[in-house]
Amino acid sequence: MSKKVNEMFSDISPKYDLLNNIFTFGLHKKWKKELLNISTDVGGGRVLDIASGTGDIALLFAKQNYKVTALDFSEKMLEVLRKRVRGSGRGLAQRIEIVQGDALNLPFDDNSFDIATIGYGIRNVDDPRKCLREMARVVKKGGLVLILETGQASGVIGMLNKFYSSCLMPLMGNLFARNYSAYKYLSDTAGNFPYGTEFTQMMRETGIEEGLQMRKVFFGVSYIYWARVS
Ligand SMILES: C[S@@+](CC[C@H](N)C(=O)[O-])C[C@H]1O[C@@H](n2cnc3c(N)ncnc32)[C@H](O)[C@@H]1O
Repeated sequence: MSKKVNEMFSDISPKYDLLNNIFTFGLHKKWKKELLNISTDVGGGRVLDIASGTGDIALLFAKQNYKVTALDFSEKMLEVLRKRVRGSGRGLAQRIEIVQGDALNLPFDDNSFDIATIGYGIRNVDDPRKCLREMARVVKKGGLVLILETGQASGVIGMLNKFYSSCLMPLMGNLFARNYSAYKYLSDTAGNFPYGTEFTQMMRETGIEEGLQMRKVFFGVSYIYWARVS
């Protein structure tokens, strides 16, 4: 499965950012900024952005002077990030380290980071619980685990979003990235992945529960979850 997911993201990598902007009307940038705002009380330090892809979250943190490691298993997605870093000036390049690796077997020592983030990545890994355990392992005691993932809105917004993501997204994915199945996969996984209290329960089961909180983003279309490592 992970090989297929890697190939899929590699295939859509050149158009990934464009389609994210189209699908969310640019709002995903605002949602990612919320991760940064939640982190302010940690006050700097080392951040690991897992499933970093083209690096939106990694870049946000690096621009705020955090020292960031961006990890993804798709070399092609990371290549887009490398180009973005090169285009952003020297200061930023010194604050971002880019690592190809697996979210389920992080190539870092225990207690290495102050913060670990994963944005729209945990639903794509084969074993989300293992990924959470890996996040907790590499974060120092008292550090922060932060997750941004799709959820489901209720009522009319939920119905509209379901239609939008299950019908329009794959068609637009085909139109702009010539890849219907990738965007069908992304929409299907968004529709099936646990969210809200079901996801916080998963976090608790992996021992990530100190100060555990969640926040709905845009009526629940996405959720942010965060907790301290104890
Ligand atoms: C939907 S993208 C999210 C990218 C970025 N975090 C963002 O919010 O725009 C999911 C990313 O997860 C990566 N990914 C999926 N499974 C992975 C794994 N086991 N290890 C590392 N990266 C993985 C994919 O290569 C892809 O870049």
